[in-house]
Amino acid sequence: MKNIILENDNIIALTELNKHFPQMIDLIVIDPPYNTNIEHIGYRDSNFKDGWISFIEPRLKLGYTLLSKVGVMFIHIDENELINLTNLCYEIFGINNVNILVWKKVNNHFDQNRIHKSVNNIKSTHEYILLCYRNKKNTKLTEMKQPIYENNNWIEILTPMESILDNLGTTSSAKDEINELLGSREAFSTPKPMRLIKEMVRVSTHKYSIILDFFAGSGTTGHAVLDLNKEDGGKRKFILVTNNESDICRKVTVPRISKAIEINGYNAEFKVSAESSIDNLLLD
Ligand SMILES: C[S@@+](CC[C@H](N)C(=O)[O-])C[C@H]1O[C@@H](n2cnc3c(N)ncnc32)[C@H](O)[C@@H]1O
Repeated sequence: MKNIILENDNIIALTELNKHFPQMIDLIVIDPPYNTNIEHIGYRDSNFKDGWISFIEPRLKLGYTLLSKVGVMFIHIDENELINLTNLCYEIFGINNVNILVWKKVNNHFDQNRIHKSVNNIKSTHEYILLCYRNKKNTKLTEMKQPIYENNNWIEILTPMESILDNLGTTSSAKDEINELLGSREAFSTPKPMRLIKEMVRVSTHKYSIILDFFAGSGTTGHAVLDLNKEDGGKRKFILVTNNESDICRKVTVPRISKAIEINGYNAEFKVSAESSIDNLLLD
Protein backbone atom coordinates (compact mmCIF):
# COMPACT_ATOMS: atom_id res chain seq x y z
CA MET A 1 0.00 0.00 0.00
CA LYS A 2 1.14 3.54 -0.81
CA ASN A 3 0.34 6.69 1.14
CA ILE A 4 -3.03 8.05 0.01
CA ILE A 5 -4.67 11.45 -0.31
CA LEU A 6 -8.45 11.32 -0.85
CA GLU A 7 -10.15 14.44 -2.14
CA ASN A 8 -13.71 13.99 -1.00
CA ASP A 9 -16.20 14.71 1.72
CA ASN A 10 -15.04 12.61 4.64
CA ILE A 11 -18.43 10.89 5.09
CA ILE A 12 -17.93 9.29 1.68
CA ALA A 13 -14.26 8.54 2.31
CA LEU A 14 -14.83 7.11 5.80
CA THR A 15 -17.62 4.85 4.55
CA GLU A 16 -15.28 3.52 1.87
CA LEU A 17 -12.35 3.17 4.28
CA ASN A 18 -14.55 1.08 6.58
CA LYS A 19 -14.87 -1.49 3.76
CA HIS A 20 -11.09 -1.86 3.47
CA PHE A 21 -9.54 -0.92 6.84
CA PRO A 22 -11.95 -1.94 9.64
CA GLN A 23 -10.07 -1.99 12.97
CA MET A 24 -6.79 -1.49 11.10
CA ILE A 25 -5.92 2.12 11.89
CA ASP A 26 -3.65 2.69 14.92
CA LEU A 27 -3.94 6.47 14.95
CA ILE A 28 -6.51 8.99 13.79
CA VAL A 29 -5.61 12.66 14.13
CA ILE A 30 -8.32 15.19 13.29
CA ASP A 31 -8.58 18.94 13.41
CA PRO A 32 -12.19 19.59 12.41
CA PRO A 33 -13.80 22.98 11.87
CA TYR A 34 -14.31 24.47 15.37
CA ASN A 35 -17.65 26.17 14.64
CA THR A 36 -16.17 29.63 15.14
CA ASN A 37 -18.01 31.27 12.24
CA ILE A 38 -14.67 32.58 10.93
CA GLU A 39 -13.91 32.75 7.21
CA HIS A 40 -10.51 31.02 6.90
CA ILE A 41 -8.36 30.73 3.83
CA GLY A 42 -9.59 27.48 2.34
CA TYR A 43 -12.82 27.00 4.29
CA ARG A 44 -15.57 28.76 6.22
CA ASP A 45 -15.89 27.49 9.78
CA SER A 46 -19.68 27.51 10.07
CA ASN A 47 -22.85 26.62 8.16
CA PHE A 48 -23.46 23.22 9.68
CA LYS A 49 -26.95 22.67 8.35
CA ASP A 50 -28.27 20.67 11.31
CA GLY A 51 -25.77 21.94 13.88
CA TRP A 52 -22.11 21.14 14.52
CA ILE A 53 -22.73 18.02 16.61
CA SER A 54 -24.91 16.49 13.88
CA PHE A 55 -22.04 17.18 11.50
CA ILE A 56 -19.29 15.65 13.64
CA GLU A 57 -21.12 12.69 15.23
CA PRO A 58 -21.48 10.38 12.22
CA ARG A 59 -17.89 11.12 11.21
CA LEU A 60 -16.52 10.22 14.65
CA LYS A 61 -18.56 7.02 14.67
CA LEU A 62 -17.16 6.04 11.28
CA GLY A 63 -13.67 6.85 12.57
CA TYR A 64 -14.18 4.78 15.72
CA THR A 65 -14.88 1.57 13.79
CA LEU A 66 -11.62 2.01 11.88
CA LEU A 67 -9.50 2.06 15.04
CA SER A 68 -7.47 -1.03 15.87
CA LYS A 69 -7.65 -2.64 19.34
CA VAL A 70 -4.77 -0.41 20.47
CA GLY A 71 -5.91 2.56 18.38
CA VAL A 72 -6.30 6.15 19.55
CA MET A 73 -7.87 9.28 18.14
CA PHE A 74 -6.51 12.79 18.86
CA ILE A 75 -9.13 15.50 18.23
CA HIS A 76 -8.22 19.19 18.18
CA ILE A 77 -10.86 21.61 19.44
CA ASP A 78 -11.21 25.02 21.08
CA GLU A 79 -13.57 26.20 23.80
CA ASN A 80 -16.55 26.72 21.43
CA GLU A 81 -17.41 23.03 21.13
CA LEU A 82 -15.18 21.48 23.82
CA ILE A 83 -18.04 20.52 26.11
CA ASN A 84 -20.32 19.16 23.40
CA LEU A 85 -17.45 17.23 21.83
CA THR A 86 -16.30 15.79 25.17
CA ASN A 87 -19.81 14.54 25.93
CA LEU A 88 -20.05 13.00 22.48
CA CYS A 89 -16.67 11.27 22.93
CA TYR A 90 -17.77 9.93 26.34
CA GLU A 91 -20.74 8.38 24.52
CA ILE A 92 -18.75 6.89 21.64
CA PHE A 93 -15.53 5.83 23.41
CA GLY A 94 -16.73 5.49 27.01
CA ILE A 95 -16.02 7.90 29.83
CA ASN A 96 -12.82 6.09 30.90
CA ASN A 97 -11.36 6.25 27.42
CA VAL A 98 -11.11 10.03 27.05
CA ASN A 99 -8.36 12.39 28.27
CA ILE A 100 -8.42 16.16 27.78
CA LEU A 101 -5.05 17.69 26.88
CA VAL A 102 -4.10 21.34 26.45
CA TRP A 103 -1.95 22.56 23.57
CA LYS A 104 -0.11 25.87 23.99
CA LYS A 105 -0.67 27.51 20.61
CA VAL A 106 1.40 30.63 21.36
CA ASN A 107 5.07 30.58 22.39
CA ASN A 108 7.62 33.43 22.16
CA HIS A 109 10.39 31.16 20.87
CA PHE A 110 8.35 30.12 17.84
CA ASP A 111 6.36 33.22 17.12
CA GLN A 112 8.86 35.51 15.39
CA ASN A 113 6.47 36.12 12.48
CA ARG A 114 3.23 36.19 14.43
CA ILE A 115 0.92 39.06 13.62
CA HIS A 116 -0.54 40.20 16.93
CA LYS A 117 -4.31 40.56 16.86
CA SER A 118 -6.19 42.81 19.23
CA VAL A 119 -7.37 40.90 22.24
CA ASN A 120 -10.80 40.97 23.82
CA ASN A 121 -10.20 40.77 27.60
CA ILE A 122 -8.25 37.52 27.51
CA LYS A 123 -5.46 36.62 25.13
CA SER A 124 -6.23 33.13 23.95
CA THR A 125 -3.03 31.05 24.22
CA HIS A 126 -4.24 27.47 24.22
CA GLU A 127 -6.57 24.97 22.62
CA TYR A 128 -7.63 21.48 23.62
CA ILE A 129 -6.88 18.03 22.28
CA LEU A 130 -9.13 15.12 23.23
CA LEU A 131 -7.22 11.87 23.40
CA CYS A 132 -9.71 9.04 22.87
CA TYR A 133 -8.75 5.39 23.18
CA ARG A 134 -10.53 2.53 21.51
CA ASN A 135 -9.80 0.76 24.81
CA LYS A 136 -7.35 2.33 27.25
CA LYS A 137 -6.56 -1.07 28.79
CA ASN A 138 -5.06 -2.23 25.48
CA THR A 139 -2.95 0.84 24.75
CA LYS A 140 0.42 1.76 26.21
CA LEU A 141 1.57 5.07 24.79
CA THR A 142 5.36 5.23 24.39
CA GLU A 143 7.50 8.20 25.37
CA MET A 144 7.58 11.42 23.39
CA LYS A 145 10.56 13.70 22.69
CA GLN A 146 9.93 16.88 24.64
CA PRO A 147 11.94 19.95 23.52
CA ILE A 148 13.19 22.05 26.44
CA TYR A 149 15.02 25.37 26.26
CA GLU A 150 18.01 25.34 28.63
CA ASN A 151 21.14 27.54 28.75
CA ASN A 152 20.27 29.16 25.40
CA ASN A 153 19.93 25.76 23.73
CA TRP A 154 17.14 23.42 22.76
CA ILE A 155 17.53 19.93 24.15
CA GLU A 156 15.12 16.99 23.94
CA ILE A 157 14.15 14.67 26.75
CA LEU A 158 12.22 11.42 26.48
CA THR A 159 9.17 11.65 28.71
CA PRO A 160 5.62 10.30 28.96
CA MET A 161 3.19 12.58 27.12
CA GLU A 162 2.01 15.28 29.51
CA SER A 163 -1.45 16.79 29.63
CA ILE A 164 -0.07 20.22 28.69
CA LEU A 165 1.75 20.20 25.36
CA ASP A 166 4.21 23.06 24.91
CA ASN A 167 7.34 23.84 22.86
CA LEU A 168 6.04 21.72 19.97
CA GLY A 169 5.29 24.62 17.62
CA THR A 170 2.43 27.07 17.39
CA THR A 171 -0.15 28.20 14.88
CA SER A 172 2.30 30.84 13.71
CA SER A 173 5.28 28.47 13.37
CA ALA A 174 3.02 26.09 11.43
CA LYS A 175 2.45 28.90 8.93
CA ASP A 176 6.23 29.37 8.74
CA GLU A 177 6.52 25.65 7.87
CA ILE A 178 4.02 26.09 5.04
CA ASN A 179 5.89 29.17 3.88
CA GLU A 180 9.13 27.18 3.66
CA LEU A 181 7.42 24.62 1.42
CA LEU A 182 4.92 26.66 -0.59
CA GLY A 183 6.38 30.17 -0.43
CA SER A 184 3.45 31.75 1.41
CA ARG A 185 2.46 32.03 5.07
CA GLU A 186 -1.08 32.63 3.90
CA ALA A 187 -1.58 29.51 1.77
CA PHE A 188 -3.67 28.12 4.66
CA SER A 189 -4.82 29.89 7.81
CA THR A 190 -5.23 27.16 10.42
CA PRO A 191 -2.40 24.61 10.08
CA LYS A 192 -1.09 22.68 13.06
CA PRO A 193 2.69 22.50 13.62
CA MET A 194 4.36 19.40 12.23
CA ARG A 195 6.27 18.65 15.45
CA LEU A 196 3.11 18.51 17.57
CA ILE A 197 1.57 15.91 15.29
CA LYS A 198 4.86 14.03 14.98
CA GLU A 199 4.92 13.44 18.74
CA MET A 200 1.33 12.14 18.60
CA VAL A 201 2.44 9.70 15.91
CA ARG A 202 5.56 8.72 17.89
CA VAL A 203 3.69 7.86 21.11
CA SER A 204 0.82 5.91 19.58
CA THR A 205 2.13 3.96 16.58
CA HIS A 206 4.65 1.32 15.60
CA LYS A 207 6.79 1.30 12.47
CA TYR A 208 4.10 -0.32 10.26
CA SER A 209 1.04 1.54 11.52
CA ILE A 210 -1.51 3.20 9.26
CA ILE A 211 -2.37 6.77 10.30
CA LEU A 212 -5.52 8.59 9.18
CA ASP A 213 -6.44 12.28 9.18
CA PHE A 214 -9.92 12.90 7.77
CA PHE A 215 -9.84 16.70 8.12
CA ALA A 216 -6.38 16.93 6.62
CA GLY A 217 -6.30 20.59 5.52
CA SER A 218 -2.72 21.43 4.54
CA GLY A 219 -1.59 17.83 5.15
CA THR A 220 0.45 18.31 8.34
CA THR A 221 -0.30 14.75 9.50
CA GLY A 222 1.13 13.27 6.30
CA HIS A 223 4.25 15.41 6.68
CA ALA A 224 4.65 14.34 10.32
CA VAL A 225 4.35 10.62 9.43
CA LEU A 226 7.03 10.96 6.75
CA ASP A 227 9.32 12.89 9.06
CA LEU A 228 9.09 10.29 11.83
CA ASN A 229 9.66 7.48 9.30
CA LYS A 230 12.84 9.23 8.21
CA GLU A 231 13.97 9.59 11.81
CA ASP A 232 13.35 6.02 12.96
CA GLY A 233 13.34 4.00 9.71
CA GLY A 234 9.59 3.37 9.98
CA LYS A 235 7.32 2.25 7.16
CA ARG A 236 4.16 3.89 8.50
CA LYS A 237 1.59 4.93 5.90
CA PHE A 238 -0.77 7.88 5.94
CA ILE A 239 -4.28 8.28 4.59
CA LEU A 240 -5.30 11.95 4.31
CA VAL A 241 -8.85 13.02 3.49
CA THR A 242 -9.84 16.56 2.71
CA ASN A 243 -12.68 18.03 0.76
CA ASN A 244 -11.90 20.43 -2.02
CA GLU A 245 -13.29 23.66 -0.59
CA SER A 246 -11.43 26.50 -2.33
CA ASP A 247 -9.37 23.91 -4.20
CA ILE A 248 -7.46 23.22 -0.95
CA CYS A 249 -6.58 19.65 -1.86
CA ARG A 250 -4.96 20.47 -5.20
CA LYS A 251 -3.54 23.85 -4.22
CA VAL A 252 -2.22 23.08 -0.74
CA THR A 253 -2.43 19.46 0.49
CA VAL A 254 -0.92 17.73 -2.54
CA PRO A 255 1.80 20.36 -3.28
CA ARG A 256 2.73 20.52 0.42
CA ILE A 257 3.33 16.76 0.65
CA SER A 258 5.19 16.73 -2.70
CA LYS A 259 7.46 19.57 -1.59
CA ALA A 260 8.05 18.01 1.83
CA ILE A 261 9.19 14.80 0.10
CA GLU A 262 11.42 16.69 -2.33
CA ILE A 263 13.04 19.07 0.14
CA ASN A 264 13.54 16.61 3.00
CA GLY A 265 14.46 13.62 0.85
CA TYR A 266 11.75 11.39 2.32
CA ASN A 267 11.68 7.94 0.81
CA ALA A 268 7.93 7.99 0.06
CA GLU A 269 5.32 7.96 -2.65
CA PHE A 270 1.67 8.80 -2.53
CA LYS A 271 -1.46 8.52 -4.67
CA VAL A 272 -4.25 11.06 -4.98
CA SER A 273 -7.85 10.26 -5.86
CA ALA A 274 -11.17 12.05 -6.01
CA GLU A 275 -13.07 8.83 -6.74
CA SER A 276 -15.53 7.48 -4.20
CA SER A 277 -14.19 3.94 -4.58
CA ILE A 278 -10.60 3.32 -3.45
CA ASP A 279 -10.35 -0.21 -4.92
CA ASN A 280 -7.94 0.91 -7.64
CA LEU A 281 -5.71 2.78 -5.20
CA LEU A 282 -5.08 -0.37 -3.23
CA LEU A 283 -4.14 -2.52 -6.22
CA ASP A 284 -0.35 -2.42 -5.87
C1 LIG B 1 -8.87 23.04 10.58
S1 LIG B 1 -8.56 22.48 9.01
C2 LIG B 1 -7.35 21.24 9.29
C3 LIG B 1 -5.95 21.77 9.33
C4 LIG B 1 -4.88 20.72 9.42
N1 LIG B 1 -4.80 20.14 10.74
C5 LIG B 1 -3.53 21.31 9.07
O1 LIG B 1 -2.58 21.19 9.86
O2 LIG B 1 -3.43 21.90 8.01
C6 LIG B 1 -9.98 21.56 8.60
C7 LIG B 1 -10.01 21.09 7.15
O3 LIG B 1 -11.06 20.15 7.01
C8 LIG B 1 -11.67 20.35 5.74
N2 LIG B 1 -13.05 19.86 5.84
C9 LIG B 1 -14.12 20.48 6.40
N3 LIG B 1 -15.23 19.72 6.29
C10 LIG B 1 -14.85 18.58 5.64
C11 LIG B 1 -15.56 17.42 5.22
N4 LIG B 1 -16.86 17.26 5.47
N5 LIG B 1 -14.86 16.46 4.57
C12 LIG B 1 -13.53 16.60 4.33
N6 LIG B 1 -12.82 17.69 4.70
C13 LIG B 1 -13.48 18.66 5.35
C14 LIG B 1 -11.60 21.84 5.50
O4 LIG B 1 -11.64 22.15 4.13
C15 LIG B 1 -10.25 22.18 6.13
O5 LIG B 1 -9.25 22.14 5.15
